[in-house]
Amino acid sequence: MSLLVAGSIATDHLMSFPGRFSDSLVVDQLDKLSVSFLVEDLEVRRGGCAANICFGLGNLGLRPVLVGAVGEDFADYRAWLQRHNVDCDSVHVSETRHTARFVCTNDSAHAQIASFYAGAMSESREIELKPIVDRVGEPDYVIIGPDDPQGMLRHTEECRQRGYRFLADPSQQLAFGDGDLIRPLIDGAEILFSNEYEASLITQKTGWSAEEVLSRVGTWVVTLGPAGVRIDRQGEESVVVQAVPEIEKVEPTGVGDAFRAGFLAALSWGLGHERAAQLGCLLAVYVVEQVGTQEYEISRSAFLARCAATYGDEAVADFEPHLETIRP
Ligand SMILES: Nc1ncnc2c1ncn2[C@@H]1O[C@H](COP(=O)(O)OP(=O)(O)OP(=O)(O)O)[C@@H](O)[C@H]1O
Ligand SMILES: [Mg+2]
Repeated sequence: MSLLVAGSIATDHLMSFPGRFSDSLVVDQLDKLSVSFLVEDLEVRRGGCAANICFGLGNLGLRPVLVGAVGEDFADYRAWLQRHNVDCDSVHVSETRHTARFVCTNDSAHAQIASFYAGAMSESREIELKPIVDRVGEPDYVIIGPDDPQGMLRHTEECRQRGYRFLADPSQQLAFGDGDLIRPLIDGAEILFSNEYEASLITQKTGWSAEEVLSRVGTWVVTLGPAGVRIDRQGEESVVVQAVPEIEKVEPTGVGDAFRAGFLAALSWGLGHERAAQLGCLLAVYVVEQVGTQEYEISRSAFLARCAATYGDEAVADFEPHLETIRP
């Protein structure tokens, strides 16, 4: 059995400018705009939703299969993911485009100038899941995260046709897509993931009520930031799982992806949704406490101690047997 994680693979290049952009903009000359800011700092961070989710799963001792498209420049990133137990053998390498890149400069007033280059990501529409399944075995689950929209549609359609259980995680693409894109990405999903804001986007853009969404997916998992997560199923009471209190809030980028990794790990161990949400919250809090989405490390004893403090010893007993391969 296998876990396929489809979605974006990208690097973020983040710079900070010590002054204010607005001091260099001449309003009546904007049609000739040409400015260059001398920045102080460049940080290159590994990211992309599918890569983040795989990193989390690998940290929990699983061996997820990354499904996405990159450029020739992926070599270092590939080595990093492989060291963290991620199967990268089915990643599609573009012959002409670079790996997707987010380039962003912030100034001292928190103004931001950013660009996202999709690059090789647009080739994820060329990926067929079947040959990957032939290599790694029938998937327990296929998670379809934000990616090239045509690629997301293709993967979802293939899952429906071949009967692979799929989890829909359209996240960032909800802002971009219209109802005609979003409806087929969700319909028939075993689980739909979103945060609260995205939940409203889903109902607004699909024109489906929350009840109708629930009639089309098995379960809707809505993350609530520091308030935890809500699990909704048609005809049942919602279940709310509290978040794990953070020791220090550093930067939340990537929490949603880590949550999904924990959730998916617990599902693949055969645990129920409430436990899955707890494991998701446990992994997510590690991301809150770090700068970057793939910078955390977990050790078994500290992880289980935190688990006990928030969710009790029964949760520890359910997780512990599956965590034997991770650092003590
Ligand atoms: N401040 C926090 N402290 C502890 N846990 C948090 C905090 N913020 C988020 N989490 C955990 O992360 C999960 C996902 O958070 P959130 O709902 O903010 O996701 P998101 O909006 O998709 O984030 P992003 O897209 O930026 O990764 C929550 O369910 C919770 O378990
Ligand atoms: Mg998110």
